[in-house]
Amino acid sequence: MNGGQPSSYLRIIRFDKVGSTNDYAFALGRAGNKEITVVLAKCQTKGRGRLGRSWVSPNSKGIYVSFLFRPKRTLQEIFLLGIVVALATVKSLKGILPLTIKWPNDIVIGNKKIGGVLVETESFNKIPEFVIVGLGINVNSEFIDLPEKATSIFLQTGNKYPLNDLFKTILKEVIAFYDRFKLNDYKNIIDEVKNYLDTLHRRVLVYTHKDKYEGIAVDIDSYGALLVRDYLGDIVRIDLGEVKNLVYDNNLS
Ligand code: BTN
Repeated sequence: MNGGQPSSYLRIIRFDKVGSTNDYAFALGRAGNKEITVVLAKCQTKGRGRLGRSWVSPNSKGIYVSFLFRPKRTLQEIFLLGIVVALATVKSLKGILPLTIKWPNDIVIGNKKIGGVLVETESFNKIPEFVIVGLGINVNSEFIDLPEKATSIFLQTGNKYPLNDLFKTILKEVIAFYDRFKLNDYKNIIDEVKNYLDTLHRRVLVYTHKDKYEGIAVDIDSYGALLVRDYLGDIVRIDLGEVKNLVYDNNLS
């Protein structure tokens, strides 16, 4: 059991080039590798994003990393891990840029995306065996490297940053937050997330796999699910979805 014990094992596997660090970490999970195993690549040829999208991963211009965790928690609690990694990242980069989180775990500046998190789990009888949390951050990418609506730390600051130093800072923060997660410190984690969440108190359109909801994003609950007040005044709880921020989108030319 790894209950509330702080993480004591750490193995980092580095690649110059890999298909997807999430795929590699997933295979390691299936092969029984321990937490915390970290897979880091300079470049990915098949980087994946949420909702079947691809994640553009040019060589040595971003951080492409996946964490293998075995948290012994329910699927509902595991959803929080994506938010935890986004929060750890935003806090680590605070001295460089005032990044925020767009629910559930996009890392943004204004209406531009700078990073994202992909959570994948392997479950047996609905009990998670392991979780892979993949993190991609556009660090030194230039305009031509990036898809529309994306940006990078370089494009925002005009400075290029050493990838390994940023990775080490983020890793330290991720481990610290993961240890708090294992101590069930969910309430404080959620309170901290709210300080960085740019989705709250805005008019949003949320797409789930079967519906869409329009209303005001009023809060997130203790599992990180988004609470939206619709125009009838009812509160809808959304645990998985994609948010369109209506105010920003109206402002786009
Ligand atoms: C998203 O916002 O859509 C999530 C993007 C996640 C990208 C990272 S890069 C490292 C890891 N490996 C992958 O193939 N995807 C994640």
